[in-house]
Amino acid sequence: MPCSLGVIGLGRMAQALLLPMIEKGELLPEEVLAVVGHQASIKKAKEQFPKGLSIVSADDLKGSEAWLAPTILLAVKPQQLDAVRESLPSIASQSDEKSRLLISLLAGVRLKHLQKSFPGYACIRAVPNTPALVGAGLTGLAWGQGIPIDQKISVKKIFDSVGEVLELPEEQLDAFLALTSSGPAYVALIAEALADGAVAAGLPRLLAYHLAHRTLSGTAQLLQDMELHPGQLKDMVASPGGTTIAALRHLEKAGVRSAVIEAVVVAAERSQAMAAGER
Ligand SMILES: NC(=O)c1ccc[n+]([C@@H]2O[C@H](COP(=O)([O-])OP(=O)(O)OC[C@H]3O[C@@H](n4cnc5c(N)ncnc54)[C@H](OP(=O)(O)O)[C@@H]3O)[C@@H](O)[C@H]2O)c1
Repeated sequence: MPCSLGVIGLGRMAQALLLPMIEKGELLPEEVLAVVGHQASIKKAKEQFPKGLSIVSADDLKGSEAWLAPTILLAVKPQQLDAVRESLPSIASQSDEKSRLLISLLAGVRLKHLQKSFPGYACIRAVPNTPALVGAGLTGLAWGQGIPIDQKISVKKIFDSVGEVLELPEEQLDAFLALTSSGPAYVALIAEALADGAVAAGLPRLLAYHLAHRTLSGTAQLLQDMELHPGQLKDMVASPGGTTIAALRHLEKAGVRSAVIEAVVVAAERSQAMAAGER
């Protein structure tokens, strides 16, 4: 079977996207040819997938076939982009037709830079996040020039299978990434801190983690399902002279709100700085 999806870099994010598609039968393992950086990673990556998915290392000549697939998922780290470009087969440098699609997951690598690096492909930027692993992902898509509607539909289908997809102008992707892609780390840090607090107040550790996770997911669901403004929910919970307002007062005094705002802004700035470092 000819490969319909070439995957360059089969790390955490590419696996989070491919596994649900394969499990739902939207993609056959035999349709995928993936390239990883090192021979040693192949065995571990293969264990994650059903039989039939081909994985080769970057120094294997067969890897160049991945670049001939109609759709390429580029999922290496941004700092690995130069090494990938050095190993490109000549097809990727031919700028005549652009019938193949290249979907880049690379944070802070602009469409302009991608198009210059891969002139033989129509380029798309996709910014997914790790909740894709449980079908609760968010993906921001920014289209390069001249991508026909049927190809846009097929790209959206890839990311639809792991959550919600939003089409955005490229200039909004840095802020989108700072909230949604980095966000799971901020939320995990808060989950851990909540559990630590509950342990300090006397709960067993495992119970504390369980309660922290359920409180976070239940609160998110409540905000969304009842379409509440976050301030409304805060006011609903904080009764006069009660425990919650005492805790909120402490959080405000510690600057938690400002720290979170600055964290998102600094992540967006970091993404911009990574893009500015491009030649
Ligand atoms: N993780 C996230 O939450 C997230 C969210 C949004 C976007 N992203 C973006 O997704 C991309 C991948 O992130 P990740 O977390 O999945 O990284 P990762 O787990 O480190 O995976 C990188 C993959 O690239 C492979 N690789 C390295 N050099 C290569 C080469 N020359 N040719 C082919 N493959 C090569 C690695 O193989 P070896 O392990 O063998 O070196 C590995 O399979 C990044 O650009 C990141 O900005 C990630």
